[in-house]
Formats: sequence, structure tokens, C-alpha cells
Amino acid sequence: KINTKHLFENFKSYENKEITINGWIKTIRSSNQFGFIEINDGTNFKNVQVVVEKDSIDNYEEVTKFHASSGIEVNGILVLTPDMKQDFEIKATKVSLLADSDGSYPLQKKRHSFEYLREIAHLRPRGNSFNAVFRLRSLISFAIHEFFQTRDFVYVNTPLITASDCEGAGEMFQVTTLDMKNPPLNEEDSIDYTKDFFGAETYLTVSGQLQAEAYALAFKNVYTFGPTFRAENSNTPRHAAEFWMVEPEIAFADLNDDMDLAEDLMKYVINYALEKAGNEIEFFNKFVDKGLVERLKGIVNSTFKRISYTEAIEILEKADVEFEYPVKWGLDLQTEHERYLTEKHFGAPVFVTDYPKEIKAFYMRMNDDNKTVAAVDLLVPGVGEIIGGSQREERYDVLVSRMEELGMNSGSMDWYLDLRKYGGVKHAGFGLGFERLIMYLSGMKNIRDVIPFPRTVNNAKF
Ligand code: 4AD
Ligand code: MG
Repeated sequence: KINTKHLFENFKSYENKEITINGWIKTIRSSNQFGFIEINDGTNFKNVQVVVEKDSIDNYEEVTKFHASSGIEVNGILVLTPDMKQDFEIKATKVSLLADSDGSYPLQKKRHSFEYLREIAHLRPRGNSFNAVFRLRSLISFAIHEFFQTRDFVYVNTPLITASDCEGAGEMFQVTTLDMKNPPLNEEDSIDYTKDFFGAETYLTVSGQLQAEAYALAFKNVYTFGPTFRAENSNTPRHAAEFWMVEPEIAFADLNDDMDLAEDLMKYVINYALEKAGNEIEFFNKFVDKGLVERLKGIVNSTFKRISYTEAIEILEKADVEFEYPVKWGLDLQTEHERYLTEKHFGAPVFVTDYPKEIKAFYMRMNDDNKTVAAVDLLVPGVGEIIGGSQREERYDVLVSRMEELGMNSGSMDWYLDLRKYGGVKHAGFGLGFERLIMYLSGMKNIRDVIPFPRTVNNAKF
């Protein structure tokens, strides 16, 4: 049995040969004498056209009654059809039903809105757009591993359950145990389930960074790539409660090294997508985002802009647009500001560095001005912030006093402070939002459409 992906790539070598393929019926139409079945086996989003003739198969009547989405097996001869839209078709000699469908299948031939398809997240991967999105997602995760592995980075699996709030934003999901079989009989018996198991309050991680730092200070260059969780109550097209992050951490490195790495990674991944996911990218370019290919190609040949937060504020203050949120030194940049900078002002990806310490996390390295920290965000057209990173505060005393300033309990962070006591060389890292990367590469506009089963506010169905 041949994957149809292989068939589309090598159809000429199968000319007039007998082959067997499996797939799900996309469309079926028939007359008294002959019919057409388009099938898809999921290995690519193109359908194979199967021609069934009454005289060539022995169950023609039965076949014409098959419904869309049924699973079938087809034996037949591959015939080249150079004058038609598709390059070849299969003249069936045998069609067998593998799994029936009752005719109520909701994905009929017409195009459905992405909103509607979210309600049938268990079936949407069978449609073209999602076949392309999730194959791209798979290919790009491989590309990310390839990028780091070929550069001698060690892949570290940081814990998903943790006691520390890396970003200090207080937007964490708490972990509790449930003993459903032995519920407490009365009030006095009740156990504090939040602390019971680990002896401390624990949460789902918002970032693997703190633990990655420990490994960078042992392996020099490491990366994590895994799920992260945020209880952000923001209902936007860019935020999910469960998302994947790619987090490299590099030792003996500063903020410039960090940006160089980020730029290399982005270009590598874009090139990879253009080369190894050509069909998918072409599909997105045609149906989702008309300027996609041109934009991606432009970016691999460009040099990313690098400006400071202070310069960004100056640009925004001079901008002749009405922003919804105020622009003022000291205030965080909102998505509208980020998009103005990268889309309107520069028309290119831009690194913004050296943010006021008040709007960034405790671990970022204090600059000499004592007002800003060595932070960096990468902003890209269409998405806004795609990467957030920094050089880390490696000076023990400076870090301790910053934590005190923020009222953090440094006791539970002993281990993190230890890293500064024993050869805590300068180091830096960043987090790339994997879903935002997929949005960027595909032109898809909503994060819910690049996650197989998205978790967002009020939505954990499936
Ligand atoms: O900027 P953030 O919060 O940075 C960190 O977590 C650092 N500890 C990373 C590091 O230095 N190792 O998040 C990094 C990126 C963002 O730029 C964004 O792309 C993505 O993670 N991100 C989200 N993606 C989807 N949904 C959310 N709720 C996200 N929050 C952050
Ligand atoms: Mg950020």
C-alpha cells in the first residue's frame, strides 16, 4: 500500500501499474455507468481521484452509495492525465469498504469557517487547511531540534510541575491531588491537597528557564522544548493557556550573542519551511495569506533591526496613528505598538532591547543605568512578540537585592542563587513561542488554529 504523498511525488514511475491505496472519501459522485471518488489518506492534503466504472468492478451499486469520510481501499491502475487538472487518476479494479460513515459527516466539500471548525476539533484535521497546519507544525519541531542538535546544544527536559513562578506574573495553574476513592469523611479529616503531595505548593510551569540555566551552567549550551502553562485571563488570538516554548540557554554569552542565536534560529526555520514544507507553504500562500512566500523569502535575506526600548518609545511617540493604549517611557508595549514598529515603521523583524526593570522579570541583568535591564523581545510582522529573552543577572548580590526589592522569598530560590555562587558565568537565553512561530510561518491568524486541541479561557473541551 502506497502513501499518496509518495504517489504524488513519483506518479510517473507508476504509469499503467497496478497499485493499492487507502484513504477516506472526500467526495463521491456517480452516474449509472461510472463515478468519481476523491480520496485522501492524510499523508498530504492533495486528494487522489479514483474513477470507478460499472463494468470494471463487481460492486458498483454498493460503491455509489458510500458516504464522504468512509475509509476505503482501492486497487487500480494509475493512468497519467496530462490534460486534466490533476496529473493522474486511478482506474479502479476493486473498491472495498473498510469503515462506514453514516452520512452525517459535518465536513462536506464546501469551505467552513475556522470558527466553525474549532467546534469539531476532533474532525478538523481531516480538512486541507489543518492537514497543512499540523504537518507544518510537525516538520518545524523537527527543524528546531535539528538546528540545536547540529550546534551541539543539549536537549534538557525541564519539569512541568514546579514550585517557582519564573516570570513572577502570578498567572499559574496550581497542582493539587484528588483522592476520589477516599474523600475526607468530615471537615477535620480534610487534607490540604495543595501541599499534601509535594510538601509545598506546586504549579504547572510557565517556563523552563530557571532549570535550563542550571544545565547551561554545566553543558554550556542547552535548550528545552516543551509545554508551558499560563493562567492569563486574556482572550486574544495570540494567547493560549497551554502552549509550547523553545528555550535555549547559553553560557559565556551576553545579550548580543542571544540575539544572534535568535536571528539564526528564525532564518533556519523559515528556510526549512520553504524547502521541506513547500506544498504546505504554497497552500497557505494561496488560501490563507497571499503575501506569505514573498515575506518569508524577504526575511531570510534581511538583517533584523535592533533598537532599544527607549528608541522604540521615541518612534511610537512620533507615530501619526491613534493608539488605543498610551505610549510613555515606563509603560509596557502593547500588541498594537509592537505591530506598528515591526509592520509599519520597519517592515521587518525587530529586536527591542533594554526595557525598564519594572516591566520585566526579576532574573534579567541590570544595566549600568540602574533603570533598564538587558531584556530582548523579537517582534515580527503579523504576530508581534514572538520571542522574549534576556541576559541573566549573574551577580549574586545584585540578584539578591533585586529579589528583596520585589518582595520575593529568596529562601525557596536557594538553588537558583547557588548557581551564582559556583562559577555563575554570564549567560543568556530566550523563549520562542512555538505556536506564534507556526502562525508566523503559515499566516494563520488565531492561535487556536495551530494547536490540535487548544486550551483557552472557557475552553478545555476535547
Ligand atoms: O516573554 P516570555 O514570557 O518569556 C519567558 O517565559 C522567558 N522565561 C523565556 C526565556 O527567556 N527562556 O515568553 C516567551 C514567548 C513569548 O515571546 C511568546 O512568543 C510566547 O512565549 N508566549 C505565549 N504563547 C502563547 N500563549 C501565551 N499565553 C504565551 N505567553 C508567552
Ligand atoms: Mg514576553
